[in-house]
Amino acid sequence: RKQLNIGLFGFGCVGHGLYEVLQKTPALRATIKNICVKDKNKEREIGPEHFTFDKNDILNDESINVIVELIDDADAAFEIVSAALKKGKAVVSANKKMVAEHFTELLKLQKEYNVPLLYEAAACASMPIIRNLEEYYDNDLLESIEGIVNGSTNYILTKTFEENLSYDEALKQAQDKGFAESNPILDTGGFDAKYKLQILVAHAFGYIAKPNDIFNIGIDNIGELELKYAREKGLKIKLVAKAFKREDGGLTALVIPKFVSPEDRLYNVDDVFNGVITKTGFADTHFFVGKGAGAYPTASAVLSDISALSYDYRYEYKKIYREENVFLAGDVALKV
Ligand code: HSE
Repeated sequence: RKQLNIGLFGFGCVGHGLYEVLQKTPALRATIKNICVKDKNKEREIGPEHFTFDKNDILNDESINVIVELIDDADAAFEIVSAALKKGKAVVSANKKMVAEHFTELLKLQKEYNVPLLYEAAACASMPIIRNLEEYYDNDLLESIEGIVNGSTNYILTKTFEENLSYDEALKQAQDKGFAESNPILDTGGFDAKYKLQILVAHAFGYIAKPNDIFNIGIDNIGELELKYAREKGLKIKLVAKAFKREDGGLTALVIPKFVSPEDRLYNVDDVFNGVITKTGFADTHFFVGKGAGAYPTASAVLSDISALSYDYRYEYKKIYREENVFLAGDVALKV
């Protein structure tokens, strides 16, 4: 394994989680050399000598060979990540919005500068779904992927449905536990799930979707009536992200709340867990489950990417990437 010298951007819930996780994994030979943060006045758990407020201190440091980007702002993240790739530094990011919105540009930068960008933590946090889609399903046989890909909304749905907590209280708990985005509408409106689905669709099927290609409805429109109906029928409501190949060769992708019955494997995916079912030509189905948010579960995926860089792993993007708009949202409700 080669020695990795890390420049870390962001020291929030996941950044701090990564710091602790790295202390516990010395065999990895990865050291955080410098941490760039924004807020000069914030109290932090480790001393000021670990931090800088100038991104160039990291980007221009030639001894740093890996950038780990764990900040909130997707635009600022893209600036940092593209600058790092241009300088030939490998990058690990957990920023689903940034990856989803700039997929094509990021692909080009990786090719042009011959440098890897890994982002396993950007979709379903701890669950190793991207690498499985990328490598195991290295053929054209995947028919559909369907799952719960947002931890906060699953947590809220579980708490309101099973423990009768109010929506506001359940959301507050999801925020206090560090699951929710700083703007929680991204979670509750189904946008976070949509960004993740874009990333999954790219690695599963080779389609690069734009955010508007994927239809999304969140959980904020679920009311007492729907909860009552679900209870009476023995169903649960889950926010489901789904993409499936159509007979005409296109792909439909959407995020939508769905009633699920006890026979459905997503029925028992509760709390902050995520679950994804893949359907393939020969294997029938596979079912992935894991914690979908939180400091350590997300840091675990970042750690796995860092580890993968130490043996020069990169996404090969072997599937053919098609940029034309193959997404039709119009018929989605009927086909799900
Ligand atoms: N807000 C996200 C979620 C964090 O709740 O799933 C993990 O991506």
